[in-house]
Amino acid sequence: MRRLPSQRPFASGSSPSTAAAAAANSRARHTDHHTDRRTGPRADRRTFLQSAGSALGGLLLASAALGQSACKDSKSDGTSTTTAASAAGGSEIVIGHYGSLTGNTAHFGQDTDKAIRLAVDEVNAAGGLLGKQVRVVTLDDRGDSAEAANAVSRLIDVEKAVAILGEVSSSLSLSGGRVAQRRQVPMISPSSTNPKVTQVGDYIFRVCFLDPFQGKVMADFARDTLKFEKVAILRDVKNDYSIGLADAFRAAFTARGGQIAVEQSYSAGDTDFSAQLTAIKAANVQGIYVPGYYAEVGTIARTAQRLGLDVPLMGGDGWDAPDLFQIGGDALEGSFFSNHFAPDNATAKSQKFVSDFKAKYGQNPTGLGALGYDAAGVLFAAIRQSGKSDPKGIRDALTQVKNFEGVSGTISINENRDADKSAVIVAIEGGKAKYRATVSP
Ligand code: PHE
Repeated sequence: MRRLPSQRPFASGSSPSTAAAAAANSRARHTDHHTDRRTGPRADRRTFLQSAGSALGGLLLASAALGQSACKDSKSDGTSTTTAASAAGGSEIVIGHYGSLTGNTAHFGQDTDKAIRLAVDEVNAAGGLLGKQVRVVTLDDRGDSAEAANAVSRLIDVEKAVAILGEVSSSLSLSGGRVAQRRQVPMISPSSTNPKVTQVGDYIFRVCFLDPFQGKVMADFARDTLKFEKVAILRDVKNDYSIGLADAFRAAFTARGGQIAVEQSYSAGDTDFSAQLTAIKAANVQGIYVPGYYAEVGTIARTAQRLGLDVPLMGGDGWDAPDLFQIGGDALEGSFFSNHFAPDNATAKSQKFVSDFKAKYGQNPTGLGALGYDAAGVLFAAIRQSGKSDPKGIRDALTQVKNFEGVSGTISINENRDADKSAVIVAIEGGKAKYRATVSP
């Protein structure tokens, strides 16, 4: 469908990993079993005692693991664990990561965590930071905002993290960020694009572009390249990111003389979109802007196809997951989205990242991975720069980061603790995201 000749059918009908959002009132699950103080496997304890060889074993049996011989296990949820105990016996730098390793947006947390662990392994192999090894503790928030707040509290209060990486989803960065701000521990969101995230306070940073820019990028592309005059918007009203990005697109598209003929909405977790798409079909639009997350977008594409609504969909970075293609199948052919990074348009530095990631995990990273890797890299640079590893010093050093050469682009932290970055536009062709263009702010 959709104007692209090079389409081919794929396996369809597979369902997303919906398992999802377990009970919101349960505690954030500790996914790094090597750091679980009560249940740490014996072998890990032995390894720790060997490597650290000190009386601190009791305290850290936890951390247990394993310096250069970084432990990689392939757990069924696709996460891996890698931690490093300091040769100096307990003098390590602990950083926290919270993300959705399970649930409706599991790809977000998993890809980010893999990339962070790649960065941590690399820095440790190169001697660590300030003479210490870095240990990352990851907590699964299951894509739930109460869990995200719990996870950040625990990373700071129990794990004693000096800095936090996360979240991907803007709604969860808002929730976790409030906790980090209150505790005065710096947090870097790799990939939350809603403007409100860093407005939470002066300890909150990000290394990605913002949605007013991202929305304008797609609105301009729709007007200038696709020559659309009349489109629809379908937003997720339970998602701060989706709400903000829809507004940004609307403002930019109408400012350029385009018309939003109809607006519809859904709530994250919905599975039936036929009423909304039927209303959109009646409005005779040339395209539909769907700034949501991949699981729902995949189903929306399928439903549109079934209803004979044969126009391109357009979206943002929230589409970026292999499951999008699994769920949406050929219904997505000829659609477009904006993103942070296109693995098929890699620079020398990002090429190395893509191949290292592939070697370690057997798959290509998505934009999430690139940003997770860069968030970790920016944090390491700030820790080095601060000369010590206390939260306030790291925060101050983060405000000074300029021209950091990341795999997702060059990162300079501005006065709002945001990064001004370019965006890419990708087209979905042959069941894959293909690089189309780069747009600078
Ligand atoms: N930008 C999205 C948000 O703020 C999260 C996201 C980033 C999703 C990158 C996928 C890829 O909610």
